[in-house]
Amino acid sequence: MIEDRSNGYDAIADAFVAARSGSTTGRAVIRRWAASLPAGGTVVDIGCGSGEPVTAALIDAGLAVSALDASPALVAAFRRRFPAVEVACEPAERSRFFGRRFDGAVAIGLMFLLPENAQRALVGRVAGALKPGGRFLFTAPRQARAWDDVLTGRRSSSLGAAEYGRLLDAAGLDLIAEHVDEGENHHFEARKRAA
Ligand SMILES: C[S@@+](CC[C@H](N)C(=O)[O-])C[C@H]1O[C@@H](n2cnc3c(N)ncnc32)[C@H](O)[C@@H]1O
Repeated sequence: MIEDRSNGYDAIADAFVAARSGSTTGRAVIRRWAASLPAGGTVVDIGCGSGEPVTAALIDAGLAVSALDASPALVAAFRRRFPAVEVACEPAERSRFFGRRFDGAVAIGLMFLLPENAQRALVGRVAGALKPGGRFLFTAPRQARAWDDVLTGRRSSSLGAAEYGRLLDAAGLDLIAEHVDEGENHHFEARKRAA
């Protein structure tokens, strides 16, 4: 049996694409964040799904996007939608993109799907892949809590603002802003300190 590293998303890929298609939830936050990056800068979209609406907004902003997702079905949907964009089907826990340096990293709807230790490790891995001054935007509920994902039924958990703040700080990132979108999704925005 092939191991599923997508936390259940590969099995419900069609339902997820249908639910997300046409959705603009979070797009305004992404657009504002994208405008804070250098013109033509590089961004890694971690847990990109089919690329709508997050990757699409980053491309529209003129950024050079590299994307990754652990679901083969969602990566296939991404490739159909964005044939010219670099995308890798691999888990965030061991993506080769973290050996490169980016101006920005986004993880929308991903962090809380991961086991808690994997969340902690991902913050450090993202920090290592950002240039000084590089920015990280991710979503997770502000309160520490656990719940069942509506689509997959899998357990999700947020470490909460205080713990994410501690992890970011320990990784050399300053938490510089928090945003809530029209779907009540909480966004943490961090910037890597100068070396
Ligand atoms: C809620 S969806 C969000 C997708 C997209 N960012 C969006 O905003 O529409 C979560 C995505 O994370 C991906 N994912 C889950 N676990 C992953 C992992 N360990 N590594 C990489 N991607 C993962 C899923 O396949 C799915 O595409």
